[in-house]
Amino acid sequence: TITPVLLCGGSGTRLWPLSRRSYPKQFAPLTGPESLFQSSARRLSAPGFAPPLAVTGEEFRFIVGEQLRAIGIEGGTILIEPAARNTAPAVLAAALWLERTDPDGLMLVAPSDHEIRDPEGFRQTVLSAVPAAQEDGIVTFGIVPTRPETGYGWLEPEAASDAKGPAPLRRFVEKPDLETAERMLADGGYLWNAGVFLFSVRAIIAAFEKHAPQLMPPVRDAVGHVQPDLDFHRLDAEAWAKAEDISIDYAVMEKAERLYVQPWAGHWSDLGGWDAVWREAGPDETGVVTSGAATAIDCSDTLLRAEDPTQEVVGLGLKNMLVVATSDAVLVADADRAQEVRRAVDALKTKG
Ligand code: GDD
Ligand code: MG
Repeated sequence: TITPVLLCGGSGTRLWPLSRRSYPKQFAPLTGPESLFQSSARRLSAPGFAPPLAVTGEEFRFIVGEQLRAIGIEGGTILIEPAARNTAPAVLAAALWLERTDPDGLMLVAPSDHEIRDPEGFRQTVLSAVPAAQEDGIVTFGIVPTRPETGYGWLEPEAASDAKGPAPLRRFVEKPDLETAERMLADGGYLWNAGVFLFSVRAIIAAFEKHAPQLMPPVRDAVGHVQPDLDFHRLDAEAWAKAEDISIDYAVMEKAERLYVQPWAGHWSDLGGWDAVWREAGPDETGVVTSGAATAIDCSDTLLRAEDPTQEVVGLGLKNMLVVATSDAVLVADADRAQEVRRAVDALKTKG
């Protein structure tokens, strides 16, 4: 079976003030009635997939449980990280968990900060990569790049392969600098890493053993001493604290052998910041996006969101701005600085 491993422990600070410490972006209804986490879980709730294994932080456990229940997903497992250690320890913990129950199984690692329309097409694409994963390949999913994005991983496939199955990967470059990203975009043939991975439990554990051996003892220990708590399973805090804070992209993907990429030609978007939300919402001809009770008058290239329906928000003559008003916090920012919004969170933290 394929177990969806839903990573949902990130903090999403670039989407402040909609994304909060206690309620990060993946759990908020950003682009529709469901949260991105719910859409991600629903997308992989289908024949051929086991109930999900969600990996999240202590503070989000009840939200995860409720949001899965709300869309009728039952029988899954929620693994709690006592502290955020980034995606490498989270994926390894999931793999070691599954090693006990489904050692011959496959896992599909899915982030929860994405929008993918056409869930059926996406599942078919995942299923077409299964044979490669069964032969212990590590499969990434590739998106045709449209800009020199430095916030993503970039994939260099081996020369053109047959159309169907995944192509062998020559190189995985996580978050390149702008110059490198511009060169890869100009050279062509590169793909963005969608952040979705398919591999066997066995292959990924072997890859960790080889490329990130320092993670093995603490994460094995944390999984070995897992504590049940209501419906949850909490990793052992003392052991977990010793795990290095590193993403799977740096810890494993940049170094691993037997990497493949399965192209995904359908719609994909990482809603990592307000600029992406603006792009995704489909701006009108003046570049304006409003939502909720917000009103824009003579504005251009501006996102204007009113999250609280009882609050009027009016923009007049704004150019290239991001305005997001919630009942207790308002962001007003230069649209070119969307990636810096996490500084707002830092500034408020320092204020105490
Ligand atoms: N459980 C858990 N614990 N989940 C986490 C943690 C953690 O400590 N940190 C992040 N996540 C979750 C996030 O909520 C998100 O759903 C997913 O893991 C990916 O983490 P991000 O922090 O959003 O990664 P990224 O966007 O910088 O980069 C990754 O995704 C890009 C595509 O969106 C990489 O895989 C890139 O290569 C890729 O291009
Ligand atoms: Mg992301």
